[in-house]
Parts: sequence; C-alpha cells; structure tokens
Amino acid sequence: MQKAMRPSQLFGTTIALSIAPGAVLAVLWATKRLAASPALLGFACCLVAAVLIALLWTHDLGKLAETIRQASLENAAGLAEAAAAPRLGSIERATRNIERLSRTLANRAAMVGQLLAANEAIVERLPDPLLVLGQDRDVRRANEAARMAYGNDMAAVLRHPDLRAAIDRAFEQRQLQSIEFSLRVPVQREVAATIIFMDPPLADGGRAIVVLSDRSRERALERMRADFVANASHELRTPLAGLIGFIETLRGPASDDPPAQQRFLGIMAEQAERMNRLIDDLMSLSRIELSEHQPPAERVDLAELVEGVIAGFEPRIASQNVTLSLDLPQNLPPVTADADQLAQVASNLVDNALKYGKPGGLLRVTIARTEPGGRWPARAGLVLSVQDDGRGIAREHLPRLTERFYRVDKARSRTGAAPSGTGLGLAIIKHILNRHRGQLGIESEEGKGSVFSVWLPI
Ligand SMILES: Nc1ncnc2c1ncn2[C@@H]1O[C@H](COP(=O)(O)OP(=O)(O)O)[C@@H](O)[C@H]1O
Ligand SMILES: [Mg+2]
Repeated sequence: MQKAMRPSQLFGTTIALSIAPGAVLAVLWATKRLAASPALLGFACCLVAAVLIALLWTHDLGKLAETIRQASLENAAGLAEAAAAPRLGSIERATRNIERLSRTLANRAAMVGQLLAANEAIVERLPDPLLVLGQDRDVRRANEAARMAYGNDMAAVLRHPDLRAAIDRAFEQRQLQSIEFSLRVPVQREVAATIIFMDPPLADGGRAIVVLSDRSRERALERMRADFVANASHELRTPLAGLIGFIETLRGPASDDPPAQQRFLGIMAEQAERMNRLIDDLMSLSRIELSEHQPPAERVDLAELVEGVIAGFEPRIASQNVTLSLDLPQNLPPVTADADQLAQVASNLVDNALKYGKPGGLLRVTIARTEPGGRWPARAGLVLSVQDDGRGIAREHLPRLTERFYRVDKARSRTGAAPSGTGLGLAIIKHILNRHRGQLGIESEEGKGSVFSVWLPI
C-alpha cells in the first residue's frame, strides 16, 4: 500500500508554496503600504491555500508512484485501485494510461507463455524420441517418446561413440548431422539419429535437438526381403543345377546309353516339375499378399468346397491306400470367404496329410461349429480339421512351420527320397487366413500324427 504521507514532505511543500506570497506581504507591511492585521490575515490565507495544494499534490503523486509500483509487481487489483485514486485530472489520466500499458504488457506476456507452452507440447508429443542439448551438451529436456524408449539409459545412449562424434561435429560445424548406429542396451536396435544445431538457441537455452528414430522394424523387413530373395533363388537353383548337370551327362557320357537317358530324363522331368511348383507357389504367395488387405466378399459353403477338393485327391488317396474318414455336416452356415483361396487352404492341408502321412494310414477331415470358451475366438465360427496318423512333427518345429521355405526335414525332401515340397504351403495358408481373419492351429505328436485346424468366422 501507499506509504503514509510524510509530515516533513507536507511541511516543505507548504513552505515552498507560501514563501513567495509571504515575502510580498512582508515587504508591503515593512514599507507601510499594508497594515499588520490585513497582512497577517493575507499570510494566513496563503498558508491555508498552500497546505491544501500541498496535500492534494502529495496525495496524487503518492498514488502515481503507487500505480507504477503495482504495475511493476503485475498486481492487477492493486493497480486498478491505485489508478482510480488521484483527484487531479491530469494525474488520473497518467495513472489510467499506466494501467492500460501494464494490461497490454500482461496480455503479451500471456501470449508468449502460451506460444512457449504450445511449442513444448508439440515437442513432448512428437512420436519420435527427441532430446534437447544445452551448450555443454547436457540433456536439458527429453520428450515422452525418448523417456519411454530410453528411460534411464539416456546417458548411455549419448555415450555411444558414433552418436557422440556426430554431436561434436554438429556443434563444431553448426550444421545438421545424420547418422545410423546400433544400440545394444537396453535391447538391440537400429537407430537413425539427426542432430539439428539451433542458431539462435532455443528459449530454454537448448543448443541442439537430437531426434532418435528407431529403424529396427524397417531393417528387419529389409533383411527379411533380402533373405526371401536369397532363399527363393537358392530353392530354384538346386533343381536348375540338377537339370544342367543331366543335360551335360546326356550330351557326353550318356549320349549312346538309351536306358540311362530314359532314367535321367525322368529325373529331369521331376526337377522341372519341382521348379514349376515353386514358381506357382511363389506367384500365389505374392498374389495373396497383394489382396491381403481386402476383406473377402463371397458366401461359401465350406463343406461343399472341401468335398470338391477331396474329390480331386481321390486317385492319390486310392494309390496310397489311405482310409478316408469324412465328417462334413450339411446345413452349416456359409462363411464369408474367397472360394479359390479357401480351396487352396484345404488342398494344401490334404496334400500335406498325404505327403507326410503313413501309406495305408488314416486321413480324417471334419468341419464343426466352434463353441465359445474353447481354444478358438469366442465369436461364431467353423473349424476345418485335417488329421493324419503319419510321422508327426517335433515340438520345436511347430512355431516355425508357417515360415516361408521352412521344412522339417529339408535334406530328405530335397533329395527326392520323400515327396519334395516347397516349404511354402503353410506360409500361403497363413496369409490367406490373415485375409479372412481366421486362425491356424497345429497339434502334432512325433510318431503319432498331426491335426491341422483352420478356424474361420461366420
Ligand atoms: N501333416 C503333416 N505331418 C508332418 N509334417 C508336416 C505336415 N504338414 C506339414 N508338415 C511339415 O511342415 C513343413 C512345411 O509344410 P508346407 O509349408 O506345406 O511345405 P511343404 O509341404 O511344401 O514341405 C513340411 O515340410 C513338413 O516338414
Ligand atoms: Mg505342403
């Protein structure tokens, strides 16, 4: 609050104001132009006027000072009170102007505050981990993504020699730097770092921004793609190398040995057939991948479709002496599916059961509605199961069966001693089921047989 008006101040001002008229009255009295009593009366009037003026001015100047003080304290209520108090018009105008000026400044400060908060919120919510470094390269700030990704390992990340060198370069050259490096802690990952030198510095003194984007997923995909091309080429090269070898033999050593020629031509036909199968499977895989994001639209009667597929296998079933047991109930609700793709699923499963089942064994194909609470999703669905009593699959292979080119017994299937597969059949099934929002279940026991089950929503 305003300090009490000091008596000395009031006294001084009164003296200053009354000194001139007092002196004039004294001279008039001394030169006898004025009698003593009117002179004294005049002086008394001057004194009273001087005291009043002094009171008014010191009060108003005090209020002016108080207004300025409250403005500097940014106290809006005190400011309004002090600004309203002056009694002199000119001083009141001055205090009102100060009040207005201080309000404008406060608004501007609030706006700056808001802008800073908006900037901070943007940095905080950016999906990529971001650090702000000070002049001495200490971490001033880390956004949420950075805290989530690196937590307490931030210092360890910044100690990575490649990253440190790039930060040093950014500070020396005052230019943006980008590098990629791999981190081993807390988990192995590939990181792309961009260091942006800030000139002028940020409001909080930040000198550089470090963006650390996790590229592990992209790198893994690139590796998978490269692996896939390498695997596919390798799978094609094996039968091709066989073909080339036999052609040379036919032209040279076996050129006049008709029985050998016949035998070699038979093997060559097999190898060519294998290449054909491989290319067919690769083409279906890429076609299925292309359609994977379009949900299927046909209404398909699963039992009818499976019956058709089995009919196509009848010659093989007969020649392998396999006993077929079917349980394909009529009047099941249709599934929403792509009929060709579902036929491929059924045919790959029956093909496997015949290929890896026992000659003279059992092939059991069933379709059933699923009950809620079992191993399948709770929503309504149908399960197609294909069961054989063949060699079965060891537990450790089960999780990898749907990988492309994965075969349990590679060597055996490739020499042609056993029916040779491409290792793509189950991968194709997996992609088709992804598109149909379906699921694949595999139960198998070595030496006893396997059950491959496909669940589809209805
Ligand atoms: N019914 C089955 N019984 C035993 N093993 C099977 C059966 N079905 C699949 N497998 C194993 O899973 C592997 C992958 O199957 P798949 O992707 O269809 O490839 P392919 O049949 O071309 O070899 C097969 O190589 C085989 O080792
Ligand atoms: Mg197969």
